[in-house]
Amino acid sequence: NASYKVTVVGSGNWGSVAAKLIASNTLKLNSFHDEVKMWVYEETLPNGDKLTDVINQTNENVKYLPGIKLGKNVVADPDIANAVKDANMLVFVTPHQFMEGICKRLEGKIKEEGVQAISLIKGMEVKKEGPCMISTLISEKLGVNCCVLMGANIANEIAVEKFSEATVGYREDEEVAERWVKLFGTPYFQVSAVQDVEGVELCGTLKNVVAIGAGLVDGLDMGNNTKAAIMRIGLREMKAFSKLMFPSVKDSTFFESCGIADVITTCLGGRNRRVSEAFARNGGKRSFDELEAELLQGQKLQGVSTAREVYEVLSHRGWQELFPLFTTVHKICIGLLPPSAIVEYSEHTPNFS
Ligand code: NAD
Ligand code: 13P
Repeated sequence: NASYKVTVVGSGNWGSVAAKLIASNTLKLNSFHDEVKMWVYEETLPNGDKLTDVINQTNENVKYLPGIKLGKNVVADPDIANAVKDANMLVFVTPHQFMEGICKRLEGKIKEEGVQAISLIKGMEVKKEGPCMISTLISEKLGVNCCVLMGANIANEIAVEKFSEATVGYREDEEVAERWVKLFGTPYFQVSAVQDVEGVELCGTLKNVVAIGAGLVDGLDMGNNTKAAIMRIGLREMKAFSKLMFPSVKDSTFFESCGIADVITTCLGGRNRRVSEAFARNGGKRSFDELEAELLQGQKLQGVSTAREVYEVLSHRGWQELFPLFTTVHKICIGLLPPSAIVEYSEHTPNFS
């Protein structure tokens, strides 16, 4: 008999695809209730309709994932407290900058016992003490165990069921990790679990900064070798940063879908890359905010704010010179350096083992 009830907190591009994946599985797996709730940050569409109503009437998120049926067992709800109140499996998938506020709204609203969470959110917060991963924020604010799921997962491709892989990162409880693997996995979405929550989450978070670098290279028409160099240097900085922050991070995690594979797909086809290319083509004269609004129409970039957050950590510790790519990307984003600076440091890169 069904013991698990799932709520997806978030309904953007990836949030909607995650709901679709999960809803296809809850219908097949006896241990899960069929219905999947999805919290929607309510919006009024240009014709005056509420997004939530349209999702429930058409079974489609017409703004963030048009043309894809989510599954009739997905029920959209604009009331966050109501959406989570019966759930014992919470899936968090919103842009990272909104999570602090969302956690505040959820305090005291979730079930008191037996709740597990997973974060699909690529990003982090920076506190005085250093970086705070989003899974940690969720754990601390809501008092729940929180796994992560990251990977080479451009949402629009998974929406049309093209084959891809993903990585679940867990802390201790392998059984819980396997439950998440079951909930997400399909023949076209292969999920595996590794015991390295920080490593998996930092991979997903930091690759967005590398993707901004790759987009600049595209906007400057510098070619494939240059882009491959940015991806290699970026991966090396991702590994070095992760291990300095959390010595427990495993080398092998960088070879999972959440590591090298996500760097590749995001640098080839992601939104961060796309907006960054436009930034470089405009010679850095139009801001990322303006280009994001124009090109993504409500979807959110994570790379620019993550570059700033990483830079805050680096400057606090005096580590800027150890991370020339991360540092340069941030300085280009805020207009302190021109886009062409993306390749001007590489001969000075330090040699991390
Ligand atoms: P999105 O960028 O498509 O959409 C933005 C979402 O934010 C919308 O649902 C919007 O309603 C909501 N929003 C706007 N203002 C808000 C506010 N003030 N408070 C709360 N919500 C607000 O979202 P997404 O693609 O689902 O991204 C969510 C996370 O998933 C991000 O961390 C992203 O890096 C990650 N991710 C995305 C993809 C992808 O291909 N889209 C793939 C893997 C991971
Ligand atoms: P973008 O946000 O750059 O589109 O990256 C999506 C992603 O995380 C792919 O795994």
